[in-house]
Amino acid sequence: MLIEDIEYVIFRHPDLAAVRAFMVDYGLLDLQQGGDMLYLRSYGDAPFSYVSTKGETAFVGFGFRVSSREALDRLAARFGSAVTECPHPGGGVYTAGTDPDGRRLEFVFGAERLPRVPSGGAPIVWNDAHARNRLGHFQRPVYGPSHIQRLGHVAVFSPTPQEMISWYCETLGMKPSELIYQGDEKNVVAAFMHLGKGAEWTDHHTLAIVGGKAAGLDHASFECRDIDDLGVGHMVMGDKGYKRRWGIGRHFHGSQIFDYWTDPAGFHMEHYVDGDVVNGDSPVLSYPFGRETLLQWGPAFPGL
Ligand SMILES: [Fe+2]
Repeated sequence: MLIEDIEYVIFRHPDLAAVRAFMVDYGLLDLQQGGDMLYLRSYGDAPFSYVSTKGETAFVGFGFRVSSREALDRLAARFGSAVTECPHPGGGVYTAGTDPDGRRLEFVFGAERLPRVPSGGAPIVWNDAHARNRLGHFQRPVYGPSHIQRLGHVAVFSPTPQEMISWYCETLGMKPSELIYQGDEKNVVAAFMHLGKGAEWTDHHTLAIVGGKAAGLDHASFECRDIDDLGVGHMVMGDKGYKRRWGIGRHFHGSQIFDYWTDPAGFHMEHYVDGDVVNGDSPVLSYPFGRETLLQWGPAFPGL
């Protein structure tokens, strides 16, 4: 196993204050800013979840936490890059490279984990038509921004999705969970990829690769505390006048309950809860491209 988890996204923005305001309202927390750098953290234990340098707007890439020093050395050899001290919060050692589309990939080992920040709430006890489980207690989520627990996945566009899917499998040990094809089943146009961790359960997708005219970001996705946290966060974003993208609904691939908003630069950010998990024994499923597998319930995808 090479990769333990995805850990952070890397952007460039001309107006760091504007993107900071958006992401804090979206549910991240201030960590470190000054000069030309902005680092934001989640309520979870990752050293940080979001970094932007100041400059022309761009999605630069993403960072992974690798599973061992040996895995880091193997990745460094694969990319022909050195292992050096990691300059980001949390430290540790790291190496970096690019994928064939030119995205920056960073691999960090040994960074210090942060203490988790209390994010309120307790596991929801649900009443439904068949069972009354919450007896005499009222469900009263507190109004405020969502409490993002971690970066969950990134979805990218690629002009050569099949090549990119193969590259991530061969280079980073990822595995497809579900494939989408157009026409012939071999004509794969998108893939939801999980980390190859053998028997260990892992997110249905840590990376999604979607065919597109040019390389770019489809969205970055952050896991919220629970469905009330996602729902209240939705209300906060609306109250603050941000641009709603899509949601609230439940995805088909990965089953997440999702909510997308658009940041000041036009990038789409996703909140999710209740995603599927898979492991090395999970079958790879294939579906034809179509509206039926865009979502299970919720508003139609914008423009469709
Ligand atoms: Fe997503």
